[in-house]
Amino acid sequence: VKALALSLGVMAGTVAADDLMDRAQGTFEPIPKYPPVIDGNELTQAKVELGKMLFFEPRLSSSHLISCNTCHNVGMGGDDYLPVSIGHGWQKGPRNSPTVFNAVFNAAQFWDGRAADLAEQAKGPVQAGVEMSSTPERVVATLKSMPDYVERFEDAFPGQGDPVSFNNMAVAIEAFEATLITPDSDFDKYLRGNADALNEREKEGLALFMDRGCTACHSGVNLGGQEYYPFGLVTRPGGEILPEGDKGRFAVTATASDEYVFRASPLRNIELTAPYFHSGAVWSLEEAVAVMGTAQLGTELKDNEVDSIVAFLKSLTGTVPEIRYPILPPSTGSTPRPTD
Ligand code: HEM
Ligand code: HEM
Repeated sequence: VKALALSLGVMAGTVAADDLMDRAQGTFEPIPKYPPVIDGNELTQAKVELGKMLFFEPRLSSSHLISCNTCHNVGMGGDDYLPVSIGHGWQKGPRNSPTVFNAVFNAAQFWDGRAADLAEQAKGPVQAGVEMSSTPERVVATLKSMPDYVERFEDAFPGQGDPVSFNNMAVAIEAFEATLITPDSDFDKYLRGNADALNEREKEGLALFMDRGCTACHSGVNLGGQEYYPFGLVTRPGGEILPEGDKGRFAVTATASDEYVFRASPLRNIELTAPYFHSGAVWSLEEAVAVMGTAQLGTELKDNEVDSIVAFLKSLTGTVPEIRYPILPPSTGSTPRPTD
């Protein structure tokens, strides 16, 4: 009550600013300070620690070279700074790697939403030919060949008869990923009531972001990551930005109206995750914002409007978790050897 009275007193003269904060608080949510609760996956220390090891474990790939961290580098914004990822045998995948930071808050995973949650998601790349090119059997044989892992799975999944399983690998990785959240951005401080956490430029950008209608698709805790929309709702971008061959959600639902429909991207830490769009074709955030103006809203944003919106978007950069590189157990005589 005291804080409320204080802030009311301070803000009495700046009605417009209060309005802006009110509207923002009604549209967005701050990143929580602690990892969220995941149904059916209790975040014990043993499980999170095991999940971290697996996230950094290149022997989940058949080459023994590629880990989750290769394409979702937790020291580089949780992605790889490449237009499209490079995986097994130096193959290029079709899409840009999204960040793993705050992915736990997305309603569905991937650019087309084809995985429901992080545990389902984690099974994909391990098996994908262009990513890690392994199999569940090979992964289980690899993990069972190292006594340290066997013990850690027992600790992370107590009471289970055969805890070293492909499914538990994914569950442990999900538990670790749930800890990859980035609270305390300037925007979060603003949402929590600190009117000075954003400067005038950033506030102008925030107002434009809401007034121009970006929030129709980018709102909530991740400013996106919840719903699907046609990329090119008003004007379809050219083939270099929206390659014809990738029809997005159409591949998931086989419904004609889902052609070129993609998940509205989460925009947290967006300054750390260039290049942009599922094609990774756009390196500058200014250009990405201008493309959104024409493609999604049918508006040519002026340069200074773009700059203000970008200033606002940069206030979404939070505190990246500090991660200690895990020490991984040595391979043994029964560990499957790397293959091409
Ligand atoms: C998507 C985690 C391995 C490239 C994702 C997403 C997550 C994730 C959570 C969805 C993020 C979102 O939708 O916002 C993991 C984990 C891995 C792993 C836990 C290890 C088991 C890899 C590897 C590569 C890669 C090795 C590169 C070779 C990608 C790409 C996407 C993606 C390109 C987007 C795919 C699409 O939308 O179709 N990953 N990843 N990932 N990851 Fe990974
Ligand atoms: C992607 C910002 C309006 C739907 C993006 C990205 C940015 C952005 C920066 C790239 C994210 C990344 O690559 O990680 C904005 C701004 C807007 C706006 C500043 C207002 C000027 C909208 C609207 C819609 C929308 C109104 C829905 C009708 C999407 C979709 C994507 C996206 C579907 C993913 C595109 C893809 O497949 O690559 N937005 N957006 N956006 N936005 Fe927006």
